[in-house]
Amino acid sequence: MQATSERATVSAIDVTVGREIPTEVQQVLDTAGRLVIDGVERDRASDGGSFDTLDPATEQVLASIPHATADDVDDAVQAAARAHADGRWRALPPAKRARVLLKVAELITRDASTLAWLDTLDHGKPLRMARGEVMAAANTFRYFAGVIEQPSGAVIPSAAGRFVYADREPIGVCAQIIPWNFPALMGAWKLAPALAFGNTTVLKPAEQTPLSALHLLRLLAEAGVPDGVANLVQGPGESTGQALISHPQVDKIAFTGSTEVGKHIMRTAADRLARVTLELGGKSPNIVFEDAGDLGKLARRAAFACFYNAGEVCTAGTRLVVDAAIHDELVAKVAEVADATTVAPGWADGAAMGPLISAEQRERVAGYVATGRDEGAELIAGGAVPEQLSETGFFYAPTVFDGVTPAMRIAQEEVFGPVLAVQSFTDEDEAIALANDVSYGLAAAVWTRDLGRAHRVAGALQAGTVWVNTYGEIDTAVPFGGMKQSGIGRELGPWAIEAYTQPKSVWIAT
Ligand code: NAI
Ligand code: MG
Repeated sequence: MQATSERATVSAIDVTVGREIPTEVQQVLDTAGRLVIDGVERDRASDGGSFDTLDPATEQVLASIPHATADDVDDAVQAAARAHADGRWRALPPAKRARVLLKVAELITRDASTLAWLDTLDHGKPLRMARGEVMAAANTFRYFAGVIEQPSGAVIPSAAGRFVYADREPIGVCAQIIPWNFPALMGAWKLAPALAFGNTTVLKPAEQTPLSALHLLRLLAEAGVPDGVANLVQGPGESTGQALISHPQVDKIAFTGSTEVGKHIMRTAADRLARVTLELGGKSPNIVFEDAGDLGKLARRAAFACFYNAGEVCTAGTRLVVDAAIHDELVAKVAEVADATTVAPGWADGAAMGPLISAEQRERVAGYVATGRDEGAELIAGGAVPEQLSETGFFYAPTVFDGVTPAMRIAQEEVFGPVLAVQSFTDEDEAIALANDVSYGLAAAVWTRDLGRAHRVAGALQAGTVWVNTYGEIDTAVPFGGMKQSGIGRELGPWAIEAYTQPKSVWIAT
């Protein structure tokens, strides 16, 4: 409490209320400082180095994690390479591999509460949302278990005396680098397809959120994934990550994170022509036409599109592109929703939005808010740390800027925080032009009751995913990925086969 401070007009919330860590979660925290290499958990990096992972709501240290060195990374890659070479996983009967991945799905469901708590503690997100993501992680394994036994490859029509087929082979050792915004789910998105298509992997979680990945690896082992097939290294991008992406025996890099690091990974991979799939940033437009319907509902959906997961979402609808005819009314309602959003620690009752991931990220976000003000946008909600949450934790208020023009940085750059930029248009062509006027192309949405317009605009938007009269829906069976500088390749659905296999053509003279 800040009883003596003149600034403290609102009393501070005790962020620890409701933070009763279940015993089984505490057990994971007590043994969280591990790497997993060749089926063995190592509690020490080769040079003894370590780093701490923090709870962003309380700023307490959750666990000390071994900081994997280049030697540790080499051990993990070698283990994965041996496991690939001897076929201990890819050569199993497909039905057997499918059963193992189904078992993983079952174990994730069994431990859903533990995994959800780990992500809430490590990232800050509301527990309810973390649970939903963990169930989606289980579904990812279930879906890819089903893909294993599907026909793949092709028999190609050929002349008499020739039989030609194209088969699919795993790529080999995959380096899988994931961000901190959806730790368990991103782990599943990477591991499940890589394993389904017979690869081996070295996973590196973000240094901010190492916890749930370790638990996932333990569940993989319990389900029967052989030693060395899935390995886990921990550490920052510049050291551990860099050692992993530049390792000569890594055949494929699957990365989700910033566009800047994605470009660096592609350059690094180019030296040895390692395969890459990149899921990068976004600046997704959420276009609302005059005829879209109830403005109260639209305002809630627009706010949710931007503020979900504290805005730390690659597909966040961070640009509200709104018809001038409804602009004033809709935007006023969006600001009301922003102001009414319950910002609180993830375990608090009714929490709609937790803290940002780190002090650094909050500074980035505050920096963008300052830029928005300086460049002349009109701040109509948020724009500061909530007063009652200013003592502990990396909280930030849902923020709305009106009057944003395309030249402003908050219209062009990914903020990765709860900052909505409102732009307005007078006709369909202008809406499309505004929507496409960014370097990103991950997602977009259009709200209208006019069927022709919905199809026209969806067709014209430069985005890997377009939602019509909805926002943010994602399913394991539907391809996910970006156009333009939002990435290369697609994850999920049957399209994932392109990311994790390579064709081999076989010509037989008969
Ligand atoms: P980042 O791109 O640096 O981190 C993502 C992952 O890449 C982490 O696991 C990190 O350790 C790893 N990494 C970083 N540098 C690496 C390197 N040289 N070699 C190998 N791996 C490396 O993102 P960061 O710094 O955490 O966040 C900065 C901004 O990036 C955010 O504000 C946001 O705009 C964007 N971002 C986008 C994400 C998305 O889902 N598209 C996720 C996370 C961040
Ligand atoms: Mg970074």
